[in-house]
Amino acid sequence: MAESVSVSKDASPAARYAELMPQIEALIAGESNLVANLANVAAALKEAFGFFWVGFYLAEDRELVLGPFQGPVACTRIGFDQGVCGRAFTNRETIVVPNVDEFPGHIACSSAARSEIVVPIFGVEGEVLGVLDVDSDRLDSFSEADRKGLENIVRVIERSTRSHTNSERIE
Ligand code: SME
Repeated sequence: MAESVSVSKDASPAARYAELMPQIEALIAGESNLVANLANVAAALKEAFGFFWVGFYLAEDRELVLGPFQGPVACTRIGFDQGVCGRAFTNRETIVVPNVDEFPGHIACSSAARSEIVVPIFGVEGEVLGVLDVDSDRLDSFSEADRKGLENIVRVIERSTRSHTNSERIE
């Protein structure tokens, strides 16, 4: 298995996502455990883009619970009706926040976070399993290229989840 991912640091975000996709697919292809795959996807995104914080929150009972991530320590539990993550989960759609101070109910796990993007992860029955959350310490960091690139990576995760038996999925 690869020991690192590599993307052209001077390439456009869209080009970097295109370079990263086959590397993420290769990382996930040989692994059936969802948490292990999420851990490697978080590490790959951190290595490729240097995001301030990148990670996952997974649905458990009536809230989102912190999963694998890279970056400063973070809030462990978020209600389905709380924060950017809860809004993306409940609305079943990607949310891009150019300035977190202008998002009502934003949860500041770190005071250094300035902009954010959250992408829902769907299961085989269309249920939302959790979210991919990315924070930047700069305003307005996330473009349409990030939205498309991160949504494509979440589709890869979803396909790997569909290939798991129920016993391996996060309950
Ligand atoms: N800002 C998120 C909380 C998670 S921290 O960013 C890792 C929110 O408002 O849901």
